Amino acid sequence: MWSYTLLFGLHVFTLAATVSGERSVTAKLHHPATLTCDWKCPGSLKWTLFDKPGNVLARCDQTSCRSEEGFNISHDQYLKGNPHLTITAADYSTRGLYTCQCDGTDVCDVRLVTETQVLSREITPGEPIDVYLPLTDRVEVSFTATDAAQPSDLQICTVNNEKIWCSPDYKERASRINTLQIKEGHVSDSGNYTVRDVENEETLTIVKVHVRGKRV
Ligand SMILES: *[C@@H]1O[C@H](CO)[C@@H](O)[C@H](O)[C@H]1NC(C)=O
Ligand SMILES: *[C@@H]1O[C@H](CO)[C@@H](O)[C@H](O)[C@H]1NC(C)=O
Repeated sequence: MWSYTLLFGLHVFTLAATVSGERSVTAKLHHPATLTCDWKCPGSLKWTLFDKPGNVLARCDQTSCRSEEGFNISHDQYLKGNPHLTITAADYSTRGLYTCQCDGTDVCDVRLVTETQVLSREITPGEPIDVYLPLTDRVEVSFTATDAAQPSDLQICTVNNEKIWCSPDYKERASRINTLQIKEGHVSDSGNYTVRDVENEETLTIVKVHVRGKRV
């Protein structure tokens, strides 16, 4: 990993070098995901998470490969110069930047991200709105109304495990049970509820809610 700094007048921008060949793989939740690295490694090959280099997830040498539970690696692919690391069931906890090392030198960085889940809910007025929250550290939930004259993304709550902070309009209505629950849906609550992972800057879920109009 490397970074460089550009000077524009008084502004200083530091760019993390994702351009240096870091690739990204988008996994479907609970499906296998395979990270690849084109590198013929004649010696000891290791896959780790970038920020946990001591925890080897899979390793290969000329005679065999071994992997930790939840991962799989093929000796044939290693010998062919295309070492794969398979995550047997991708989920939020397996996201991150993975590094492949050959004889102690970083040869590939691959980021595993999860696909945004899009869910649709239709409710009747008065029913609660449930926004499913994946088990992950800190998420932000925002709302874009379907029939707003000027569509805007409104920040409604931040959830950090059990803790929850909501904007004044939602303080009384929103609570954290297993979901972020907003009481007493109105027609004006129709729209998209977006759950963003703050640390990883990833959109995890979009819940499209339609609150049916009252019958007359
Ligand atoms: C690992 O991959 C091999 C093929 O490369 C397959 O035969 C084996 O069943 C896989 N193991 C697991 C635990 O998924
Ligand atoms: C809601 O999300 C869907 C799917 O991502 C998108 O097509 C639609 O335009 C969004 N609607 C609003 C009001 O943002």
